[in-house]
Amino acid sequence: VAEAYRRLIDTGQLDEQYADQYDETGVVMTMGALHAGHAALIRAARERCAVVIVTIFVNPLQFGPAEDFDRYPRTIEADLELCAREGVDIVFVPSVEEVYPGGEPQVRVSAGPLGEVLEGEFRPGHFDGVLTVVAKLLHLTEPDVAFFGQKDAQQLALVRRMVTDLNFDVEIVAVPTVRDPDGLALSSRNRYLSPAERDTALALSRALRAGAAEAVHGPNAVRRAARAVLDAAAAAEPPLRLDYLALVDPATFREIPDDFTGEALLAVAGRVGSTRLIDNAPLTFP
Ligand code: PAJ
Repeated sequence: VAEAYRRLIDTGQLDEQYADQYDETGVVMTMGALHAGHAALIRAARERCAVVIVTIFVNPLQFGPAEDFDRYPRTIEADLELCAREGVDIVFVPSVEEVYPGGEPQVRVSAGPLGEVLEGEFRPGHFDGVLTVVAKLLHLTEPDVAFFGQKDAQQLALVRRMVTDLNFDVEIVAVPTVRDPDGLALSSRNRYLSPAERDTALALSRALRAGAAEAVHGPNAVRRAARAVLDAAAAAEPPLRLDYLALVDPATFREIPDDFTGEALLAVAGRVGSTRLIDNAPLTFP
């Protein structure tokens, strides 16, 4: 960290007399296979923080036994290049032994009820694994600010909850979802999709847009419009196999009633071929 400060001062990016006021360390936690979504988090960190740390760690604890831990994309050379291009000061790429020095951890963070709905229902134990590693990486990097993507809205909400419930001394900043021009939310898993599968996968973001356009007519109209797009994709070739479509309160992730007003979240998840995709859109009911 001291070296990173010295470099900023030496290159004229930081005036030595202000160094003690511009002193925040930011962290962006990732599993690698970095894309423009991760880069947006890094830029948000770079804009605000004197020192930017990126962690790259494919966390075995958050993958279920039938999930893609072994085939999760690992592209460390390209990842380091992206980090260098984006002006990251420190890239932390720990081994499994460094993160789990005692082997399989016995003491873990429990995500609680918010970890059991939606994603949690389809990925049992996933959020306990996520929060356990996020807690560890917060201890290992000691940031003032940590940046998370809105793309993983439930993860973001759970990290906020953990920070509140367990008194972590860190500020959590959310960064909006980055999409390809056709609407597909960027994800490390998109590289698994064949062109035909990608076409089907576009239904996720299309359903969110169709739903959001109905917000003036209330929650049920939103659900109906989104559902129609997803039903069509379920009949396409290759088909979308829907896990859930949910219109929820972003704090509790419980379904909202039809007379709901305020901020809500339309969330969707499904599989195309052997690739599982998630997406969401914030919307407001006036
Ligand atoms: P990963 O999927 O690599 O995502 C790392 C961060 O990038 C997360 O905060 C995620 O929400 C954000 N992100 C991914 N795609 C995005 C997009 N299209 N737009 C904006 N942000 C995006 O999420 C994880 O890793 C892991 O669960 C982790 C938090 C690192 C714990 O292992």
